[in-house]
Amino acid sequence: MNKLTEDIYTLAIESSCDDTAAAVFCNNKILANVVANQDIHAQYGGVVPELASREHQKNILPVVHEAIEKANIERKDIHLIAYTKGPGLLGSLLVGTSFAKSMALALQVPSIGVNHMRGHILSLFIKDDDERDTPTYPFICMTVSGGHTQILLVSSPLDIKILGETRDDAAGEAFDKAAKVMGLPYPGGPIIDKYAKSGDPQRFPFPHPNIPNYDFSFSGLKTAFLYFIRDEVKFNANFIEENIEDICASYQQKIVDILIAKLRRAAKEYDVECVAIVGGVSANSGLRKSLHTMCEKLRKKPFYAPLEYCTDNAAMIGITGYLLHQEGVTSDMSTTASARLTLDD
Ligand code: KG4
Ligand code: ZN
Repeated sequence: MNKLTEDIYTLAIESSCDDTAAAVFCNNKILANVVANQDIHAQYGGVVPELASREHQKNILPVVHEAIEKANIERKDIHLIAYTKGPGLLGSLLVGTSFAKSMALALQVPSIGVNHMRGHILSLFIKDDDERDTPTYPFICMTVSGGHTQILLVSSPLDIKILGETRDDAAGEAFDKAAKVMGLPYPGGPIIDKYAKSGDPQRFPFPHPNIPNYDFSFSGLKTAFLYFIRDEVKFNANFIEENIEDICASYQQKIVDILIAKLRRAAKEYDVECVAIVGGVSANSGLRKSLHTMCEKLRKKPFYAPLEYCTDNAAMIGITGYLLHQEGVTSDMSTTASARLTLDD
C-alpha cells in the first residue's frame, strides 16, 4: 500500500487533571472515546492532586484497554501515540506521559506530546458520525476551562496567537468557587448551569470588571459574590435554598456577559469568518446561547464542540496528535511532563 495514503491509527492518552482518558482515531475520525471520572474529589470541594495521580495509576490500563477494544483494533495496528505533556497537575501528567512513552517504545511507533490547551482548541476538528462543519482558518477562539480563560487567533494547528487572558481566576474557577460558597459539590459549573435555566438573570446585579484589551479578571466578581451571599444569609438563613435559581441565573449571566464582551471585540477587530468557544465552560448553555446571538448580529459562524469533547477528554489530544503529525511534528523520548506549559512551548 502507498505509504502516503495509508490510514493513520492514533491512540491518545490524557491525564492532566482528574479524568483518566483514552481515545482511538483513524485519521481524523474518532473510533473510541473513554473517560474515567474520579468521583473521589467531590467530597473535598476540588481536585486533590495526590489522590488524582493515584487514581490515574489505577485507571490508566483499563481505560486504554477499553478504548482499543471499543475501536475494534489491535495494539499492533497503532501507528502513533499522542499524550498530554502539560499544562496540568505534575503527578497526574507523569502517569500519562510515562505510560504513553513506554507503550510507544514497546510498539516501536512514534509518540507526540500534546499541549492540553492546543487540544481544547483543535477539539473543533474531531470527525464523528454527525455531519458537522469545522471552522475555517483563521478564526477567533475563546478557551474557557477550569484553569484557563484566553482569547486566541488561530491561523493553523501550529500557529495560535494569544490575544488576551485572565489575570487571576479562570471562568471555570469563577463557577466552581461560587458553587462552593453555596455548598454545592465540585465541579459546580454544570450545577449552576442547570439551576440557571429556570432562574431570573436580572434579579441580582453583580459588578462588571473594567479590564483593558482582551484580558479578563474574575477575582472581583468572586469576592462580590462571597460578600453578597454572606450578607443575605445573615438576614435569612434559608436565602440560598429559597433563591437558588435566581442566584445561579444572575451570576452565570454576569460571567457570560464578561466573556462575550471580549469575544465580540475580537470578532469585530479581526477579519475572520468563524468564532469558536472551547473548554469545559463552553458546555454552558447560557454561553452557547449568547455566542449564537452575537454571531447572528456580526454575521459570523459560531462553533463549539459536542458536549463530550468540551470537558477534559483524550479525543482532543488524539485529533491534535494526528493534525500535528500531518505537519511533520513528533516528540522524542526526552519529552517530559510540564505543569506550566504555555502555547508557545
Ligand atoms: O476543560 P475542563 O474539563 O478542565 C480544565 O482543563 O480545566 O474544564 C472544567 C471546568 C470546571 O470548572 C467546570 O465547572 C466547568 O468546566 N464546566 C462548566 C460546565 N461544564 C463544565 N461551567 C459552566 N457550565 C457548564 N455547563
Ligand atoms: Zn481542560
